[in-house]
Formats: sequence, C-alpha cells, structure tokens
Amino acid sequence: MKMDQLREALPQWVDASRIFAKGGKVASYIPELAKAPGDSLGITIMDASGETASAGDKHCPFTMQSISKVFTLLLALMDNGEEEVFAKVGMEPTGDDFNSMLKLELVEPGKPFNPLINAGAIAVSSLIRGDSPAAKTERILAFFNEAAGGASLAINQDVFRSESATAHRNRSLAYFLKDNEVLGEDIDVEDVLSVYFQHCSIEICCDQLARMALLLSFDGFDPLAGRQIVPKRYVQIAKTFMIMCGMYNASGEFAIKVGIPAKSGVSGGILAIVPGRYGIGVIGPALGAKGNSTAGVHLLESMSAALDWRIF
Ligand code: DON
Repeated sequence: MKMDQLREALPQWVDASRIFAKGGKVASYIPELAKAPGDSLGITIMDASGETASAGDKHCPFTMQSISKVFTLLLALMDNGEEEVFAKVGMEPTGDDFNSMLKLELVEPGKPFNPLINAGAIAVSSLIRGDSPAAKTERILAFFNEAAGGASLAINQDVFRSESATAHRNRSLAYFLKDNEVLGEDIDVEDVLSVYFQHCSIEICCDQLARMALLLSFDGFDPLAGRQIVPKRYVQIAKTFMIMCGMYNASGEFAIKVGIPAKSGVSGGILAIVPGRYGIGVIGPALGAKGNSTAGVHLLESMSAALDWRIF
C-alpha cells in the first residue's frame, strides 16, 4: 500500500481498534502515569523517505518507559561490546511479568534473564559510560536524540520523581543485583536507579517514536541522514530481543498474531518495525493484564494481517 493510501485508510483502522481500550486500564503504580487519557489511541507510520501517515489522538508527549530499554541496550553494546554486556544479562525470555523476581535466583543467581525486563534494564543502565548519573543520562539523551533524527527529547521530571518515590520493587531488584555482584563494588545502586528512572521518563511523541523505529527497521542505518548510526549486529540483537520479549510475557502471542519486532511501555506506547519498510509509533494508554496497550496491540494486529507485515 502506498503512503497516501495508507494515510487515507489509517483513521478507519484506528477507529475500529479504539474500542479495545475499554478492555484495559491506565497504569497507576507510577502515580503520575494514571493521568493519561485511557480511551485515546494514536499512530504514526514512517517510511524510508521520511513520509508519514498518522491518525488518532496522539496524546503527545508520553514517556517512553520500557521502550527506552531497547536504546539503552544499543548504547551499552556500543559502549562495551557484546561480551561485557552479556556477562551481566542473559539472552532468554522469562515468560514472567516485567518486574518479576522469580527467575533472578534460578539459574545464575542475580543475573537477569534478558535486558528488557526491569532487572536486566537496570543492569544495562549500569553499563552506560559516564562519570556520574547526570553524565550517563546526558549521553543517553544525546543518543536518543540522534536516533530520533536530531530531536530535542527531554525528561518528564514529574514522572521521574513519581516513579523514583514509589519504586520499591525496582529498588529491591537493584539491591538484589548488587548483592550478587551484577552491580559491581564501585557501583552505587541509587545512582544506577536514577539513570534507569530518568531514561524511562524521556518524553516522546508518536512521530519521534516512528523515527526511532525507522533506524531499527534499517538495521541501524538512518535512511534520512544517510549514515550508519548503530552497528547492524547490535540492531540484530535488539530486534531479536524485541521478538522474544519486547511485549513481555505476551511476546509469543504477539509474534504469532502480529509477527513484527516491537517494544511496549507502561505509558501505553509501542515502538514497532516492519523491517526494511516502516518505523511505527503507537500510543494507547489503557493496558491489558500483561502491561501492553490493548487498543495498540489490536491496531497493529489488524494492520499486520491486512497488509502482510508478518516477518515469518
Ligand atoms: O520500571 C518500571 O516499572 C517502568 N519505568 C517501566 C516498566 C514498563 O514500561 C514495562 N512495560 N510494559
């Protein structure tokens, strides 16, 4: 389907999926997130020439939450290489909730199964180069801005403070990592948590999310800037994690029904890619039981089936 046809058809798809927001609930465990409009749904699809099709109420901006974990993983890989990163986190899906402790003690004690669960993303945050939490956060923001095509993304301080004040579970995960030396002796747990909460609180709109997704869609090559920003190998790794655990313990169902790499966040955002074709940004704050946007997943599922997006 051509971009102008997509532009024309998109509002109908969004309207048909919006009703599925009723089957979900806006996240409230981070109090500040509970303010989002539960019935909204919006999407931007961007192609390699930077042309976009958008529809719905994009409720802009929203915080990236777990979507940020894909890009901090890429930055950690660029900073340290594969060997060092995978000394701290594994390569396996858990099948458990994103903030679960269950498997942390099972195989290699303290080593998170993968970089997209909270424990794994906290370990990854500790690997970002920088002399202080502020310097690390600055590097993360600079990288995200580059990935978004020269954006000026910023941290939502209210969400950051709200999460930091209520993150008892993430704190306990991080201290468990420290106890098991996944966070080394020289690492201050609260410093790592501060970096993690801040990158989860980076604000973004669907258009910028689609732009970041485009970079992954083209294996780290920015088709608009005409240059390789992330090594292809690292994007391959990130895309594989997105398929295996990007939608948490609904990733298998998403891979079968939608069939494209994607990453969700508890703000209701979803970054999805149709490899070699599109970058996609979705926002629908009402979440299902497994933490993914109900309307957003329905929208991607119906579009993927109709437009033959599935990669398998
Ligand atoms: O650590 C947390 O709980 C949030 N900052 C991010 C979690 C999240 O987005 C999980 N997504 N489905």
